[in-house]
Amino acid sequence: MIAFQNADELDKMRRSGKILGEILWELRRAVRPGLNLLELDSMGEEMMVKRGARPAFKGYRGYKHSTCLSLNHEVVHGIPNDRELKEGDVLGIDVGIVIDGFYADTAATVPVGEVHKRAQKLLKTTEEALQKGIAQARPGNHVGDIGFAVESVAKRAGYGIVRDLFGHGIGRSLHQDPLIPNYGKTGEGIPLRVGMAIAIEPMFNLGGDEVETLPDGWTVVTKDSSLSAHFEHTLAITENGPEVLTAMEASV
Ligand code: MF3
Ligand code: CO
Ligand code: CO
Repeated sequence: MIAFQNADELDKMRRSGKILGEILWELRRAVRPGLNLLELDSMGEEMMVKRGARPAFKGYRGYKHSTCLSLNHEVVHGIPNDRELKEGDVLGIDVGIVIDGFYADTAATVPVGEVHKRAQKLLKTTEEALQKGIAQARPGNHVGDIGFAVESVAKRAGYGIVRDLFGHGIGRSLHQDPLIPNYGKTGEGIPLRVGMAIAIEPMFNLGGDEVETLPDGWTVVTKDSSLSAHFEHTLAITENGPEVLTAMEASV
């Protein structure tokens, strides 16, 4: 069932989203060679708690951390562990919170120090695909318009698209209807209407589309071990078009 947010509910989602945008921004700024992933996860949890938010991932299907940290060929759902970042890595940071019953979910993949040109291009292109997908999230369009826009960017660049994982509706729960694939056909799929809130999250690979889950039950990696990138925003569909709720702002 698809949930529609009324004005009050949307206000709560705005609050949740704004705070999460700030948190991701701060975590991105903390990324540097030598940083330990468990330390970064703790920093994230502390930022959430300090702002009166509950980490949405902790306890979700038995997940034990407040962030997902996915390094290099890890696509998403990387479990924070005792590894140190090194120059040239790319790190996917995915965070989620709930405040006053409303969820927000956002992610970005960031370079650690100087990274290879082809890594830079992968990050830039995946973020661009997210923006292209967001631009399609307006009333009158369909879920397939988002997927088509995202997929077109990957195809043009010659990247693999992760087809086994999806964006999703979001609101009073982290994952709800509808599914938002990163591929699709113009005008197809569920119609987008005012009041829907969704998370769009393209995942692109330097190599092929295929991914697999490691025996830890969480970490999704590319089958060919190629580099992967993931960007995500939570947004609402308003009569004026998409309103990005997790836009990044420096919290001064
Ligand atoms: N944040 C992920 C998503 O974008 C889901 C994380 S599930 C968790 O949908 F258990 F790891 F938290
Ligand atoms: Co999500
Ligand atoms: Co997420």
